[in-house]
Amino acid sequence: MTFDFDRTIDRTGTSSIKWEYRSEHGTVRHWDETSARHGDNRILPMWVADMDFRCPEPVVEALVKRAQHGVYGYTGRPESYTDAVVGWMRQRHGWTVDPATILTVPGIVPTLNMAVRSFINPGDKVLIQPPVYHPFYRSITNNGGEIVTNPLLVRDGRYDMDFEDLERKAADPAVKLAILCSPHNPVGRVWTADELRRFGEICRRNQVIVIADEIHGDLILPGNTFTAYGALGKAFEQQAIICTAASKTFNLADLHCSNIMIADETLREGLAGTIRANGLSGMNPFSLLATETAYREAEGSLDAVLAYIAGNAARVAEVMAERAPMITVSPLQGTYLQWFDCRALGLDAAGLEDLMLNKARVYLDEGYIFGPEGAGFERINLACSRQTVDLALERITDAVANLPG
Ligand SMILES: Cc1ncc(COP(=O)(O)O)c(C=O)c1O
Repeated sequence: MTFDFDRTIDRTGTSSIKWEYRSEHGTVRHWDETSARHGDNRILPMWVADMDFRCPEPVVEALVKRAQHGVYGYTGRPESYTDAVVGWMRQRHGWTVDPATILTVPGIVPTLNMAVRSFINPGDKVLIQPPVYHPFYRSITNNGGEIVTNPLLVRDGRYDMDFEDLERKAADPAVKLAILCSPHNPVGRVWTADELRRFGEICRRNQVIVIADEIHGDLILPGNTFTAYGALGKAFEQQAIICTAASKTFNLADLHCSNIMIADETLREGLAGTIRANGLSGMNPFSLLATETAYREAEGSLDAVLAYIAGNAARVAEVMAERAPMITVSPLQGTYLQWFDCRALGLDAAGLEDLMLNKARVYLDEGYIFGPEGAGFERINLACSRQTVDLALERITDAVANLPG
């Protein structure tokens, strides 16, 4: 099968958050300025994490067929669905999942919120590793928790975990949960098995439950190896809530479907109780069908998309090194979200935002939204055509070259 990732699909008119909206302090508002009416000089939206690519053809075909059936009543989760999830985890990640441990829910962000609510008491603490996906913060504060940070260490653009700091923070008996982002959004690290084991051992020793957010776990660029947290072994799996989905992998995010693996029965029943208490029962027929079809029939398209994204990332590294060497680009090992360090430009937050949005006319995620450790950085979404990446790079490097001084 051939894939045409170079083709730009017009997403305007679909109420796409990425293309037609913007975020104002976390609230999404319609933004006319990005609409197609503004022609060639429109602001290029390269922020929110979805792909501009069409999702795999077998998924489109299955959804069209199901839509044509015309009856969309309540739908159960068939055994073929859990078989497909289990099969994917075994084949792609070498992780054997017991189907009885899988809770299927409409999203990972809702799950993070419900997990925090389920497993902490007022005043308890939840550990995160900034700079990190911003809804992690709200999932803690929304649910009565206190945030404890174990900031990542950065050197020459490469990020590592600070294990000494983790030892100290996890030893606080008030720390009940740790949210692991694996691979890490926004810094693009794919944690090695050794790093994950060390992280997991510290948490286990201190009775800290690990919530492993593996939503980007299939988006691993060639040359890197992903280790599923559950594949570390039973002891790690027993003290973890592992969040997986086909949503980022195959660009199905707004079909809202994720699979949460919880091996320990008490933990699983704890989260299941909160799910019930929220009246969340059942999924919709499209989300289940899309996920099952993608896992069964779309592996080839995933490998093709990963190769294309690696090409986009190589282009960013090459052009920045040549035309804006004061910007440090972090190596992209996983996800399609490229992180880069603009601190050497000497701009404050407003100045950097102005440079990207008004001078370069690209709409990126400002680094500070991922925590103060992200200030002076930018995150650019590379799941788009090479042409879009090239245009963005031209605009950004021109804007940098035109900075006074
Ligand atoms: C690390 C991470 N977790 C969760 C999500 C969103 O999950 P969901 O759409 O299933 O709520 C994202 C989306 O960008 C993400 O990057």
